[in-house]
Amino acid sequence: MVEIANSRWVVTGAAGTIGTELRAALHERQVALVSTDIVTTTPVGQDDRVVQADVGDLDAMVALCEGADGVIHLGGIPDEADFHELATVNIVGTYHVLEAARRAGVPRVVYASSNRLTGMYPAGTMVSPDMPARPDGFNGVSKVAGEALCQLYTDKFGISTVSVRIGSYEQQPGSPREQRTWLSPADAVRALLAAMTTTQASAVFYAVSANSERWWDLDAGTAIGFVPEDDAAGWGALEPIDASMPQGGRYASEEYSLDRMRE
Ligand SMILES: NC(=O)c1ccc[n+]([C@@H]2O[C@H](COP(=O)([O-])OP(=O)(O)OC[C@H]3O[C@@H](n4cnc5c(N)ncnc54)[C@H](O)[C@@H]3O)[C@@H](O)[C@H]2O)c1
Repeated sequence: MVEIANSRWVVTGAAGTIGTELRAALHERQVALVSTDIVTTTPVGQDDRVVQADVGDLDAMVALCEGADGVIHLGGIPDEADFHELATVNIVGTYHVLEAARRAGVPRVVYASSNRLTGMYPAGTMVSPDMPARPDGFNGVSKVAGEALCQLYTDKFGISTVSVRIGSYEQQPGSPREQRTWLSPADAVRALLAAMTTTQASAVFYAVSANSERWWDLDAGTAIGFVPEDDAAGWGALEPIDASMPQGGRYASEEYSLDRMRE
């Protein structure tokens, strides 16, 4: 395991839901932070340098990466949106983060990928990271591209990359789907810490809690030390779900994408 105390990590999307939770957890573990987001955010402590920047600005990303031991790339559009915006922010933005890491000599990038990359598999199917992508929308497509960029930067440029396919990050599961896809805040921190500290050169794994019923194989996460502890069953009895429906649920519907498409 790679030691993270007294190391310095850049966190993109630092003002966001997961970024805020993660930064507090990293601060507790004596990790120095460079927290960046397109909007402002409050430092979590003295060792947290907050810089407002757009992932669209490659020079700004390079400057942020100077002297860092790793980058956790959470910044971007987390939901379905017009493809032009997703391409700009999620795909080109991820390229900028990886390229900035290369130029600044940062050895590891942890990438916030998504379960939406495989959301078209039917609910009854156990999906593992080695199965082909079946995105449930354009957001999922942007994550396929992000993971491909990570793989390229590992294979071609020797940067260690870990793609974390995040489940449904919520305080508690709020639907039958989320009873299967829930990722508790504590398990999210466990998943990201495992991604930061693994000695594997690259990995792709699902970050999902230890829910009694899951659709995603945990082996790739187990291999890098991700051991989830929470279970959606603790919040109520499991409700049935139609196993022939896509895992992405409403996100997989035509309307969900069409309603967000620019004219
Ligand atoms: N929350 C979930 O359940 C979930 C599930 C799967 C994947 N993810 C992924 O995890 C990451 C973080 O998710 P979150 O829930 O914290 O989302 P969030 O929207 O709360 O945080 C994303 C942050 O990115 C910032 N951002 C947007 N555009 C930017 C730009 N051009 N430059 C710099 N920063 C920009 C936003 O200001 C925001 O603070 C996202 O990449 C998302 O796709 C989240």
